[in-house]
Amino acid sequence: MMYDFQKAPARWQTDSVKWDIKPGELPLWIADMDFFTAPEIIAALQKKLELGAFGYETPHQDYFQAVAEWYTREHQSRPQIDWFLFATGVIPALSAIVRHLTQAGDQILVQAPVYNIFYHSIENNGRRSVVNELYYQAGEYQIDWADLATKLADPLTTMMILCNPHNPVGKVWTSIEIQKIAQLCQDNQVILVADEIHGDLVWAGPDYTPTFSLPEKLRRSTITLVSPSKTFNLAALHAATVIVPDPDLRARVEQGLNLAEVAEPNLLALPGTIAAYSQGQNWLAELKQQLRANYTQAIEFIKQELPTIRVVSSRATYLLWLDVQVLTSSATDLATHLRTETGLILNAGTVYRGNGKHFLRLNFACPPEMLADGLQRLRQGISTYQAK
Ligand SMILES: Cc1ncc(COP(=O)(O)O)c(C=O)c1O
Repeated sequence: MMYDFQKAPARWQTDSVKWDIKPGELPLWIADMDFFTAPEIIAALQKKLELGAFGYETPHQDYFQAVAEWYTREHQSRPQIDWFLFATGVIPALSAIVRHLTQAGDQILVQAPVYNIFYHSIENNGRRSVVNELYYQAGEYQIDWADLATKLADPLTTMMILCNPHNPVGKVWTSIEIQKIAQLCQDNQVILVADEIHGDLVWAGPDYTPTFSLPEKLRRSTITLVSPSKTFNLAALHAATVIVPDPDLRARVEQGLNLAEVAEPNLLALPGTIAAYSQGQNWLAELKQQLRANYTQAIEFIKQELPTIRVVSSRATYLLWLDVQVLTSSATDLATHLRTETGLILNAGTVYRGNGKHFLRLNFACPPEMLADGLQRLRQGISTYQAK
């Protein structure tokens, strides 16, 4: 490998949310990787800092060109540059879109268990979450189509937020599934917002289908949210691109982003994104190799040492979704036990709703040695939990 995925940056006491922990604890929770980002990105950020002048910024052609070329090279589908809007993050954009394109009291559909902040964007803005619960059987999640069709047909449902690939279950929706969802949304005048922040992290099998790449008729009422932040571990860069093919919808989204004041980049957002998208391809290819190896390391350990845990099969994201229903009726209780007894910090699935209360989420994007430590702690914690 050209890049080093064996060492973790020392982030304790560096204002990191993930590493805001007690000495001896091991944080394998929030979706933030313990790898150094691509050196090409670090060099671009350093160059910007050396300039020594940090006034207001606005994205130019080179930014939009870098995004378009990334999707062409990495995902074989070229969005048009005039479909793009800059935003200071996927969630800031999502909340602004919810506020501007729906009314207080509207229903917004999500597929639970799903990234918990979706519920905040909906409910903190006075809208209601309507849940199309994913159907769980034999360690796999599927869409309950009849339920989805019924809930989208409800006149109170005006928007759907899709997560593709899906956090936390690691599912990559097929092109046929995305088309079917978009068709159902269109038939019911529901705006489809696709959060594709994990889209670059498909490390096995066929690639994901960007929603903006759907046929013209279907993409008309869609908004796709992308960012290099999960791909390259740049969450604090606060940069995302909002892709809206339809010009009328785009004008409304742009107004919403501006009203919410989430349309202006900070000093590092543009050079960081341009470097990631124009020079990060080799780094990402190696990251995906490492993620595949780490996934195998984790599932083999769990199969041999922790037969009471079932791992939901996945081929994207760096999040393991662990079915612990044989061990407990409360994943929150088990997560608390793991932290107090072993220092291992995982996410309890309860916050993702749906059947999440039976699951733990483990972030495996870290050097293999750190992952091995986490897995040993998991084994130790489960054994004392069972002995309680
Ligand atoms: C599905 C999903 N969307 C959005 C985000 C956060 O995006 P941002 O930091 O750009 O607001 C995350 C972070 O984990 C995520 O998993």
